[in-house]
Amino acid sequence: MKKFFSTTLGHILIIISCSTVITFMVLCTLLFIPKGPPGPPWPWQTTYRISSIVNILREVEPAQQNAILQAAQRADGMKMRWVTQQPVSCTTQTFNTWDLARSLASELKGGNHIDVFSCNSQNPRQDIQVIINMGNGYLEVMVDNIGREPTRFTFPTFCAILFLLTGIAVMSIWAIGRIISPLRELSIKADAFSRDMTVIPVKEEGPLEIRRVAHTFNLMQERISSYMQSRSHMLAAISHDLRTPLTRMRLGIDTWPPEIAKEKLIKDIDLMTKLIGAALSFIRTGSDGEKPERLDLDALLTTLCDEYEDGGTCIQYIGTSTLELFCKPEAIQRAIVNLIENAAAHADQIAIYTRQAGDQIIIEIMDNGPGIPPDMLEKVKEPFFHLNSARNERKGNAGLGLSIVNEIVQLHGGVFELMNRNPHGLNARVTLPKSLHARTEYGHASS
Ligand SMILES: Nc1ncnc2c1ncn2[C@@H]1O[C@H](COP(=O)(O)OP(=O)(O)OP(=O)(O)O)[C@@H](O)[C@H]1O
Ligand SMILES: [Mg+2]
Repeated sequence: MKKFFSTTLGHILIIISCSTVITFMVLCTLLFIPKGPPGPPWPWQTTYRISSIVNILREVEPAQQNAILQAAQRADGMKMRWVTQQPVSCTTQTFNTWDLARSLASELKGGNHIDVFSCNSQNPRQDIQVIINMGNGYLEVMVDNIGREPTRFTFPTFCAILFLLTGIAVMSIWAIGRIISPLRELSIKADAFSRDMTVIPVKEEGPLEIRRVAHTFNLMQERISSYMQSRSHMLAAISHDLRTPLTRMRLGIDTWPPEIAKEKLIKDIDLMTKLIGAALSFIRTGSDGEKPERLDLDALLTTLCDEYEDGGTCIQYIGTSTLELFCKPEAIQRAIVNLIENAAAHADQIAIYTRQAGDQIIIEIMDNGPGIPPDMLEKVKEPFFHLNSARNERKGNAGLGLSIVNEIVQLHGGVFELMNRNPHGLNARVTLPKSLHARTEYGHASS
């Protein structure tokens, strides 16, 4: 519910409901403010008087008409006269004249032609002229509107409408501002990012959808930036690592005795092939078009451990048999193999643990090796980073294993952590969402 009211639709609903309630309250307050006793309602009182006189005039002899009119004059301020020619009529029509004309037409069923005009341009409530065609003459009535106005353009109605319009306008401006200003900031930051690739986070505020866009944009900035950094770092490192065997080969051609030159050259070419192979594998991580599918993690880890055990590695797997992961299976297998290879290279005992925590699956590859100095735990995830350059170069290790693992885990929306164990050894922990789609949920992304 709270989430719904933080959406744009929720904001709009709040605005409409608030302004409607406030307008209703203002209208009620204004309508019920005490204003003294109400006057007789216009135009009905006047209509009944005129129609009753007209009905009497229709029934009496012409000789008596004047006497009746005289009597009617005396009744109140209403002036009446009987004329044989159509009297000069005023021309203005107002709400008062329309009201009176309509009520007279409904009350006088005889089909007399009725005209109603206003003769006072200053005050439309006074000097209202009614001309009724009686067949043998015309009845002209001059009357004032002394009754209560029908509730049409009264002060409370007018105030309420004005208030509603102002309220809606102010709240709409506020709501649009809440949506437009973060979008404007987003477009400025996106433009800046596309120019110099500098990560400037966008403020995550406003309605839920806007916050989601800002959050996703911030994540995208970080990912693109780290992607660019790792690629440029890798390019620099591979150039550096290839230069060493190339220089050695160049010098060796002149100095190595011919009987060992071929063997040494083949060794260096193999080393370079391995480096380039590892670099290509790193570059292709995530862009290999592999389709996500269901993976039986338990079966995969059991098979891998069996294979390494057959190869003479001391490795054991302790896990749950019901672990299913929706992921890119080959990429996940590559990541796990890299971690096992590392552990096997530095330790003589390896244990793999798996467990489920909520909608996440945790895989831990633990060994009893020397571990990694604490200040290097993050650094080793960078491409081409070795703790011992000479040793790794000798082995032909590119120093890309952990960066590939990191990349694969991030692509799955997971977290890759390295922790030293007590008293010694390394724990490489991979936390993955059970479903690859879970990482698109707001606030669920790991990085
Ligand atoms: N289990 C471990 N125990 C101790 N040190 C480790 C362990 N795993 C990795 N390292 C250290 O981290 C460094 C980086 O590892 P990474 O896997 O990225 O590269 P690599 O194993 O040297 O080369 P590659 O995996 O590309 O063949 C290694 O040089 C190694 O010193
Ligand atoms: Mg490695």
